[in-house]
Amino acid sequence: MCGIVGYIGKRDAYPIIIKGLKRLEYRGYDSAGVALLNGGLKVYKKKGKVAELESHVGGSDISSNIGIGHTRWATHGEPNDINAHPHSSSDGKLAIIHNGIIENYQSLKTELEQKGYKFKSETDSEVIILLIEEIKKRNNCNLDEAVRLALNEVVGAYAILILSSDDDKQLIAARKGSPLVIGIGNGEFFVASDATPIIEYTNNVVYLDDYEIAVIRDGELNIKSIEDVPKTPFIHHLEMELESIEKGGFSHFMLKEIHEQPKSIRDCLRGRLIAKDNHLNLNGMYQYMNKFLNTDRVIFVACGTSWHAGLVAEYLFEDIARINVEVEYASEFRYRNPVIRENDVVVAISQSGETADTLAAIDLAKSKGATIFGVCNVVGSSISRASHAGAYIHAGPEIGVASTKAFTGQVTVLAMMAIILGLKKGTLSESRYRELLFELDSIPDKIQKILENTEPVKRIAETFQFAKNFLYLGRGYNFPVALEGALKLKEISYIHAEGYPAAEMKHGPIALIDEDMPVVFIATKDSSYEKIISNIQEVKARKGKVIAIVTEGEKDIHNMAEYVVEIPKTEDCLQPLLSVIPLQLLSYYVAIHRGCNVDQPRNLAKSVTVE
Ligand code: M6R
Repeated sequence: MCGIVGYIGKRDAYPIIIKGLKRLEYRGYDSAGVALLNGGLKVYKKKGKVAELESHVGGSDISSNIGIGHTRWATHGEPNDINAHPHSSSDGKLAIIHNGIIENYQSLKTELEQKGYKFKSETDSEVIILLIEEIKKRNNCNLDEAVRLALNEVVGAYAILILSSDDDKQLIAARKGSPLVIGIGNGEFFVASDATPIIEYTNNVVYLDDYEIAVIRDGELNIKSIEDVPKTPFIHHLEMELESIEKGGFSHFMLKEIHEQPKSIRDCLRGRLIAKDNHLNLNGMYQYMNKFLNTDRVIFVACGTSWHAGLVAEYLFEDIARINVEVEYASEFRYRNPVIRENDVVVAISQSGETADTLAAIDLAKSKGATIFGVCNVVGSSISRASHAGAYIHAGPEIGVASTKAFTGQVTVLAMMAIILGLKKGTLSESRYRELLFELDSIPDKIQKILENTEPVKRIAETFQFAKNFLYLGRGYNFPVALEGALKLKEISYIHAEGYPAAEMKHGPIALIDEDMPVVFIATKDSSYEKIISNIQEVKARKGKVIAIVTEGEKDIHNMAEYVVEIPKTEDCLQPLLSVIPLQLLSYYVAIHRGCNVDQPRNLAKSVTVE
């Protein structure tokens, strides 16, 4: 949450920062601001999106070779011009941008107020810069030392960038709990919350670790810990392509990402699955195979869409590998005093790899001796680095706030894990293993087929664009898909939607059904098919409007449902990879009809780095 960008070098900083902020806008878009050094500190900030900041800056003199910029997702203090970052010290010499939450800001603020400091904003972030100012004055020390001492007093999460008008050759960065990447150019440095603002200029990056401070000065990068221990920067070479973070002719990132799924799943399978050779391999699992084979249970921790992928994993691991599974909301797990044993394997699922609750859940599990396996998309992210082992989903950057290709990538990796374990444990026969490999291999083509005929979904979206509620029902492997379909609709079209196991409907939600209630059944031809037909009848008997996702060629539901979308046949255990696609499209087209901003829905941010 919140995107931050910094530049120091020989180029004009402002256009680099603005472009970078636009790339990071998916992280928050309540307000935006920049600070530049240009014969003194110049700060421009404005409520709203980066475009509004640009209009506000207008024709001002923004020439500078050093600057920092911020796009905000508000936590403390409403989105307005004053609470927008950067925040300045009281002498106007220092500026800070911050992503994270300072938990002890109230006590620090009171102490600073007692010393006579006046706060301009309601943010927790302002406290950091005033504390640095106070420590610098009190100790008469360098700025980097004042930053170090201040960070020793701060409790919470932060990624910060700091500028000082006393030194226009220096940029200071620090992190704890919120991501920060430093791009190394030729005599220039780019700092950002993730690599997307950087890859246009350089592929060489350093990921700052927790409790590290980077001092960039006179073309040199020095890193030290907040205990003042020097650290050697490790330079990673990023493989990311620029096209992967652009819309590529689609009107929205979400639509592009939905349509990318045949490719993103092929990328996920590449080198891991060769069906004709009976080959399936996830390198990350092998070192910890004994842990997986000897554990009594696997615990999946995640949030949001990633949690839905975890629910699919519950079905996969139990069904295919006969392993006990628990699926936990990371936010509940971390505060519940859960029983965690040393031989537990905890699988953390996260697109961003930065979700604060998931990160805290794995820290807790790790402290109890559990083995942590990360299923992440963002390479080098905090969760991937905090895990003992893991498997990337290789979906490429996902920029639309509504997660789409990450879900199918996660399910693909989780299916591969279950199949590998099933074979190793002997719960899956050789012949069944072979069938599943071929079927998994065919999934990208089957998704492509769904994406080639979006007309039925578009018609449904047009018909129901004014609905006030939606119900999504599924059974077995399609139950988590019902939850995911409902979440997609809620977050981008603001229509209230609920996902339910279809059989549970009669225990409560059936009371909601009347002639105005669209009910989406995920009713593919699987082992629950007969049962879900009965559930459809129950809805019809109460005049609900039935929209059914069915297997192509099926006849019975065609005669019952008002609206039908066909998808290709697949194995039950791989069904979520296909059945979720029309639901992603449905939410997208409903939101478009309603004039919603699908890539940046209100109140949300892509990466939830606060608890
Ligand atoms: O990056 P993560 O997968 O850890 O994010 C988890 C959730 O915040 C995320 O899935 C969220 O629910 C999406 N907006 C759903 O589309």
